[in-house]
Amino acid sequence: MDRLLLIDDETDVQYSFRRIFDSPSVEIISANNGEEGLKLVPKAQPDLVIMDIRLGGINGLETLRRIRQIAPKLPVIMMTAYGTTQTAIEAMKLGAYDYLLKPFDVPRLKEVVFNALKASQDMRQVVSCQPLLDSDDYSASIIGRTNPMQNVFKTIGQLATSNATVLITGESGTGKELVARAIYHHSQRSHQPYLAINCAAIPENLLESELFGHEKGAFTGANAQRIGKFEQCHQGTLFLDEIGDMSLSTQTRILRVLQSGQFERVGGNQPLQVDVRIIAATNKPLENAVATRQFREDLFYRLNVVRLHLPPLRERRADIPLLVDYFLNKYARQQKAPKKSIAREAVDILQACPWPGNVRELENAVQRALVMAKTDLILPQDLPLEITQNRLAPVEPRLRPKTQPPALPSTLGPSSPADLESLTRLLFEWARRDDQLKIIPAVERLLVIQALKATQGNQVKAAQLLGITRATLRKRIAKFKIRNDIIVE
Ligand SMILES: Nc1ncnc2c1ncn2[C@@H]1O[C@H](COP(=O)(O)OP(=O)(O)OP(=O)(O)O)[C@@H](O)[C@H]1O
Ligand SMILES: [Mg+2]
Repeated sequence: MDRLLLIDDETDVQYSFRRIFDSPSVEIISANNGEEGLKLVPKAQPDLVIMDIRLGGINGLETLRRIRQIAPKLPVIMMTAYGTTQTAIEAMKLGAYDYLLKPFDVPRLKEVVFNALKASQDMRQVVSCQPLLDSDDYSASIIGRTNPMQNVFKTIGQLATSNATVLITGESGTGKELVARAIYHHSQRSHQPYLAINCAAIPENLLESELFGHEKGAFTGANAQRIGKFEQCHQGTLFLDEIGDMSLSTQTRILRVLQSGQFERVGGNQPLQVDVRIIAATNKPLENAVATRQFREDLFYRLNVVRLHLPPLRERRADIPLLVDYFLNKYARQQKAPKKSIAREAVDILQACPWPGNVRELENAVQRALVMAKTDLILPQDLPLEITQNRLAPVEPRLRPKTQPPALPSTLGPSSPADLESLTRLLFEWARRDDQLKIIPAVERLLVIQALKATQGNQVKAAQLLGITRATLRKRIAKFKIRNDIIVE
C-alpha cells in the first residue's frame, strides 16, 4: 500500500486526487497547510508528498525545506499554476522530486506519481544480502550461496565505505538493479536520495535534458528551465541503467561530471558543480562497444573503477532451490497466505533449465506455478509448459547433441534474442537520425548485399542464406538496383 500525503487547502483538489487515485493500493491522507503537513510526515510516514506551492501559513518552499530536513529521502512533488513555473524551479533546486502544472494533465500526473513512488520504494526498501523473511515489507534480499554470488556480496561489503563509481555487468534478469540498490543501502549515502534512470528507455534527444536539465528556449518545446537528475541528486546516488545504450554526446557529458563534478544544463553556459555517486549497469559487453567505437574508451575506464559482474543463473544452478524457496516465501507473505511447497521433481526440472532470462524468468515461472497449483504442493505439471518442454535443451556443451551446430561466438554477431534486440535498437537509432530512411527496405537491401558478398555473388547460396527463393532474390536485386560491382569489391 502506498501512502500519499496531499498538502493543499482546496477541497476540489483533494476530491480530484481521491477520484484519480481511487485504488486499494493507494491511501491518500491530506493536510490543509504546511504546518499540518509537517506534523503528518513523521507521524504517518507517507511514501510521497504532493504539495501546492501556494499555501496559507508557511509557504510551499519553506515547507519543502523543512520536509527535506526531517525526511531527506521522501519525494516531494510540487503543484503550481502556469504563471509561477519559476518558483517550481526554485523548488527543484531545493530537492523537490518534480513539479506539476495546474490544471492537471491526468496521464502526466499519474506518470509522475508512479515514478516518484517507485523512487520512494527504491530508497525505503532496504536490499540485504541475507534472506530477511521475518522482517517487515521494507526489505528485499539478494539470494545466493554459490561462490560467484558470495564474491558479489563481498564486493558490496567492500564498497560500503567507498564513494567509487561502480559498473555492474551481467545478462538481463541477473539482478543488476537489485545489486545497485544494495550498494546504495549499504553506503554512507544511504540517507541521501537515490534516483534511477534507464538510459535505453528515454529517447536520445530527451536523455541529456533528463540528466542535466535545460535552459528555457534550449530547443523547440523547452518552454521553461528544467532541473535534471544530476542536480536533483546532489550528494546522493544516481543509478544509470543500460548505460551501453547512451549516445556518444551524452557519454562525453557524463565523463566530464565523473572527472570534475561539473556540467552545464542543455543550452546553458553556466558550469554547475555537483557531488553525485554514479552506479552504472549494462547487459552489453562494453569492451566490444569500445572496440567498435560506440562507447568512449576513457568513459569505460572511468566507470570500470570497480566492476561487479553478475553471473548468469545457469552458472550458479545450486542457487536455484534457494531462490525458489525465497520466491515461495515472498509471494505467501505478499498474499498473506500460507506458504506453498514444491515437489523435489519440480525443483529438479527447474534446476536443469537453461534460464536465458535468468532470475527474473525463474521468478515468473514460480509465480505462474503458484497460480496453477491445485493443492499446497507445486508439482511438475504446474510448471509453465515452455519450461518443462521447449526449454529443457541442456546448455552445457558436453550435454549438447552432436548434430547441433556449435554456438556462434558472440563476437561474430547476433546469437541470442538479446543481441537481436540491441541490433534493433541500433537500427531504430539510425532511423531516428535520418527521417528519410525507410527502415524495412533499407535493412532488406543491406541483407541482400551482405548475403551476396558472403557468397561471392553466388545467387543460389545467397538465397539459401536468406531463406528465400532464387526468384525472390532476383526480384530484390532488381528492385534495389544492386549492381555487381557493389558485391565484388
Ligand atoms: N539473487 C537474487 N535474489 C533474489 N531476487 C533476485 C536475485 N536476482 C534477481 N532477482 C529478482 O529478479 C528480478 C530481476 O532483477 P533485476 O531487475 O535486478 O535484474 P537486471 O539485471 O537489472 O535485469 P535487466 O538487465 O533486464 O534490467 C527482480 O524481481 C529481482 O528482485
Ligand atoms: Mg535492470
